[in-house]
Amino acid sequence: MSFIVAGNWKMNKGPLETKEFFNEFFKLNLPSDIRTLFFVPALVAETTSHLFQQMDSIAEKNSHWGLENIYFEASGAFTGENSPQVAKQMGAGFTLVGHSERRSLFGESDHETNMKVKSAIMNGLSPMLCIGETLEERKSDKTLEVLKRQLFEGLKEVKIQNELHVAYEPVWAIGTGEVATTEQVSQAHQFIRKTLKEIFPDQEAKINILYGGSVKPENAAELSQADQVSGFLVGGASLQTNSFFKIIQAVKG
Ligand code: PGA
Repeated sequence: MSFIVAGNWKMNKGPLETKEFFNEFFKLNLPSDIRTLFFVPALVAETTSHLFQQMDSIAEKNSHWGLENIYFEASGAFTGENSPQVAKQMGAGFTLVGHSERRSLFGESDHETNMKVKSAIMNGLSPMLCIGETLEERKSDKTLEVLKRQLFEGLKEVKIQNELHVAYEPVWAIGTGEVATTEQVSQAHQFIRKTLKEIFPDQEAKINILYGGSVKPENAAELSQADQVSGFLVGGASLQTNSFFKIIQAVKG
């Protein structure tokens, strides 16, 4: 499976900046054995969709896009929410689910996260379930317990289609510049892999585990060597083509 470098733009970029970004990015000499994913705000989904359709070389560049959040219903009276069904129609292939900002700022529970994972799959999107402990939880030795709960609850009754993605993002490392050490990442990823084997005894090979939290060009090479890391979810450093490309290059070595 190719290494994945995914960008999470969060609430940044409008249509113009989106155009600028992709026009510049797809001119770069991207290695075809690295998969790139872009999680974009719903308001630029249409722009992104058009741009991806226009680029003839997109297939060979191994690149896809998705939303940062979906609702668990496909349509109906849910003012302000993003329909997974419409996202799929627009050409999205992926969606983030349960990002720590969704959990902490918008009160998303493990149950809601689970509904979203299932709905994404039902509507033809590939979900990337984000999990991770807070600093308090790490300090009080609850990291593994939290990861286990988020995995078991978030993936309850989930049937994997082609593949599934889990992003391990320690909350204390997101947007803080504080990066987990390679050892901390390896430990968490080994535990996640072991837990996924328990949840999906026959299908765990279909699951990619990504690391996220202050990934930058400077630390990407080292972090990519951590055990069981098959990709990165990048926030801040995904906003500029330059830094995002440097992360890809660092992974390539
Ligand atoms: P960061 O964000 O790279 O800016 O720490 C990662 C994320 O929130 O997915």
